Amino acid sequence: MYNDVEKDIESVLLTQEQIRQKVSEMVRRIDSDYRGKELVMIAVLKGSVLFLADLVRGFKRPLEFDFIGVSSYEGGKVSTGVVRLDKEIAIDIKGKNVLVVDDILDTGRTLGFVKHYLQKFEPNEIKICVLVNKEIKRAIDVEADYWGFKIPNVFIVGYGMDFENHYRHLPYIGILKR
Ligand code: IMP
Ligand code: MG
Repeated sequence: MYNDVEKDIESVLLTQEQIRQKVSEMVRRIDSDYRGKELVMIAVLKGSVLFLADLVRGFKRPLEFDFIGVSSYEGGKVSTGVVRLDKEIAIDIKGKNVLVVDDILDTGRTLGFVKHYLQKFEPNEIKICVLVNKEIKRAIDVEADYWGFKIPNVFIVGYGMDFENHYRHLPYIGILKR
């Protein structure tokens, strides 16, 4: 029951140091693009939590953040294709510049759904920021305005990302043993 989770990791794909450097680069880019503009980040639970926490701590400018809860995987490694809303946003984004923050862009179903949901609240604009961008053919036509790493179609865990809700707490991104 209480085995070391690192035993389940085949290899480390992105180290803590690589992630740290990339997140600071992303902060610099976002900071410069949003100069003089209001910024509201909407982070997608639960995978974005570690990324969001590191990202926001890089900014000195004012910003707000809130969470939206959606689930697209019923556990396991294969997307069910169905996205369900688990938690609504609780702040007013009307007329605001929204930056959606998520761990990974895969089929695009999650972020497509989130974008569509947020549009109802009439924000000024919606942009998308993900740490990891999987290079696959999307099921839904959605792309990231900001992304940290492009990776091939492999299943990763850690730094927020899970397999059956485990491994989210790993400070690096790894590939699971089969
Ligand atoms: P999409 O809806 O297919 O774009 O997938 C987005 C969501 O699926 C992400 O927010 C993740 O929670 C999850 N996901 C996609 N690929 C992976 C992966 O390789 N490992 C863990 N979770 C993933
Ligand atoms: Mg997930």
